[in-house]
Amino acid sequence: MAVHSRVYGTGMYVPDEVITNQDLARIVDTSDEWIVTRTGMRERRRAHGDQAASDLAIPAALAALDEAGITARDLDMIIVATVTPDTLFPSTACLMQERLGARSIPAFDVSAGCTGAIYAISLAHQLLSLGTYRHILVVGVEMLTRITNWSDRSTCVLFGDAAGAIVLGPSDDGVHGLLGFHLASDGGRGHTLHMPAGGSRMPATRDTVDRNLHTLHMRGNEIYKTAVTTMYDSCKILLDHEKLSPQDVDVYVFHQANLRIIEAVGKRLGVSSDKVFVNIHKYGNTSSASTLLAIHEARREGAIKPGSLVLQVAFGAGLTWGGILWRW
Ligand code: UT7
Repeated sequence: MAVHSRVYGTGMYVPDEVITNQDLARIVDTSDEWIVTRTGMRERRRAHGDQAASDLAIPAALAALDEAGITARDLDMIIVATVTPDTLFPSTACLMQERLGARSIPAFDVSAGCTGAIYAISLAHQLLSLGTYRHILVVGVEMLTRITNWSDRSTCVLFGDAAGAIVLGPSDDGVHGLLGFHLASDGGRGHTLHMPAGGSRMPATRDTVDRNLHTLHMRGNEIYKTAVTTMYDSCKILLDHEKLSPQDVDVYVFHQANLRIIEAVGKRLGVSSDKVFVNIHKYGNTSSASTLLAIHEARREGAIKPGSLVLQVAFGAGLTWGGILWRW
């Protein structure tokens, strides 16, 4: 298959404030032992009160642009994956267009939960393959601590704030870049992970705020099972399409939602744990930023090298899931 697009640069940003498991044990009835054994998380980051999603996204984007060797004025499009934008409108992508000093290029947000970055990259890839655009900035940014119910121990221990960014452009050699993608959804199970209020169905009122309906609600157990099945399915679809075996992949980058989910998918694929990149212990679940952070750190640590076969897979609210197969 001809390769049309590749990554020119990656970047990430996490806020300074570290929230440890011990910090959380002072807020709700939980323990370091429970959180580590059930999720693999040890700490996560929380944004300052005066920061919004775009404040996290800008430094991540600048780092990706720097590595790509271009400036914001060279960009032809900005796509931001997020469910926690600065405001419902204007989009965070439009706010970034102005703050980065980009030309009056198209800029828009994508809402696909934790799979958002995979949706956005796949879309950018398709547009690049048409030849209309040369440089597309994709950002995954999330501030789930802003929509967390801090009295619900089953969710408040899980999430962290972060931004990841990637600059995509045409593949120069037709070999290195995006080999294939798979995207899917099941709206019938959307209620298992949602924020009930704040949209046109249930606009904000004193009552909705009092009833904590502007926070994330999740049926953890149901999501857990679906996450394992769907991420495995995405891997199989992508590998089968390219006639590859799970062992052919050098690095698996799964959505960092729970270490047990990551290990379960790796086990079903029959791959050794040294092929599976993990950074959930440092950042928790950062939703649409998660796999971008992992790719950036895997590159920085030398796990992803030029020529590596990389499988990036996620699952999230929608429900949505999908994956991207890369020849780095
Ligand atoms: O990125 C979007 C996708 N999100 C996910 O993929 C999350 C998927 N789900 C999960 O990761 C897991 O389901 C959780 C980590 C959320 C929960 O782990 P679990 O092993 O499924 O626990 P559980 O919900 O079955 O709860 C087991 C027990 C319950 O107590 P009882 O009823 O057995 O007495 C919970 O009340 O653990 C209790 N529990 C806690 N205990 C201490 C739930 N949260 C906590 C907590 N600390 N933080």
